Amino acid sequence: MKLTKKQQDILDGKQGEILAKVMKTLVMYGEAFDATKMAEVSSDYNHLVTSFGLGVMDPVYRLMDKLLQEGVVSGQKFTVDPRPLDPNVPTTFLQNIVFKHFMYSKQDFYEKQLKKLGLLEDDAFTCTCYMSEVGNTPKKGDVLSWSESSAVVYANSVLGARCNRNSGIIDIMGSIVGCVPYFGLLTDEGRKADWIVRIETSKKPEAQLLGSAIGMKVMEDVPYVIGLDKWLGTELDEKACTYLKDFGAATASNGAVGLYHIDKLTPEAKEQGKALIKKNAKEYVIDDAELQRVYDSYPVIWKDKEAKPRLCFMGCPHMSLQQLKDWTDVIEENLKKYGNPQVLIPTVFTAAPAVIKEFKKTEYYPRLEKTGIILSYICPLMYMNNPLCGKMPVITSSNKLRTYTSSRYYTDDEIVMQLCKGGN
Ligand code: F3S
Repeated sequence: MKLTKKQQDILDGKQGEILAKVMKTLVMYGEAFDATKMAEVSSDYNHLVTSFGLGVMDPVYRLMDKLLQEGVVSGQKFTVDPRPLDPNVPTTFLQNIVFKHFMYSKQDFYEKQLKKLGLLEDDAFTCTCYMSEVGNTPKKGDVLSWSESSAVVYANSVLGARCNRNSGIIDIMGSIVGCVPYFGLLTDEGRKADWIVRIETSKKPEAQLLGSAIGMKVMEDVPYVIGLDKWLGTELDEKACTYLKDFGAATASNGAVGLYHIDKLTPEAKEQGKALIKKNAKEYVIDDAELQRVYDSYPVIWKDKEAKPRLCFMGCPHMSLQQLKDWTDVIEENLKKYGNPQVLIPTVFTAAPAVIKEFKKTEYYPRLEKTGIILSYICPLMYMNNPLCGKMPVITSSNKLRTYTSSRYYTDDEIVMQLCKGGN
């Protein structure tokens, strides 16, 4: 791999043994992917994926300690994925004990380490760091050192930044030395589409279902999606961005997509059009029947498949401000329609702390509170990934949450019915 003088000096230990080790790790990582050089990280801030103080992550705490003891901090301030715990989210006595004393026993300790390493703000915990209220929004062409899959796919596809799907520790290392190996989605060739996906549905496809179908088909390849502009338009407005946030998270978790192009809508597709499609690209047609097939293929792993849901999580990835407002309207309207004062299943909407702060300033907040819905900054996945919550019948319209936990997926409309009317 060809390194610049500055990078070579770091590797040679001219800035200390610790930085040399960090650089060596990145070089070895790059060599495994035939990277030809290192690219300078150019975004204003970084984003880290490891936000949770799991008791068993001892090697991470030791690594962080070692870095901090040697005075090594992140070259950029960073945001980090959502916190795993929030006292607002309902827990049983037993769950509380498991969360605080066994699972996330190191949360406070780890947050102190993150602060010392360069956490942007005390509350910079969210997977949607790119939202304007949070302020970690990369520019087109920026090279990033991120790992959170839903954020990576959004940054690449909607913002036109460049980032590989890195791993948790690699994102810290790239941020510390300010460079990442140049391969894959950082290169022009790596951003070309291996698949043409044609949308031929009779109505606007559910974002999380469509993303799931594409992710499961193309896996880690790059899809070029034709026909979605009919439903989303040709401008990246708030509605389109929100749709693509949820769509992308499903492609990234149900498959391993790091970049997609939407014909006539996303920045590179607008500039280069079908020239982005590789010769001999494979083709996948999605119609109503295909979406239904995908939906029907989801396994339900609840012990009692007819159990009444004990919890509903919405907002994985975290909701936008407009999404919170729109959902408030929809829930209010339907509670009124079906004559119920509050939602029939305990429900948690999740969003970034900065988005929640803004939402609380609006007239929607007391209205949402009135419906009985809880607002939280939690990561539902972190909440659910333990044997106690794993047994709970939880519903969600997040295909990422469905994939990684025992929660059951329903479309947005089905969720509304369950919350406001009861039954499916
Ligand atoms: Fe975000 Fe946690 Fe879902 S990080 S995308 S809320 S799994």
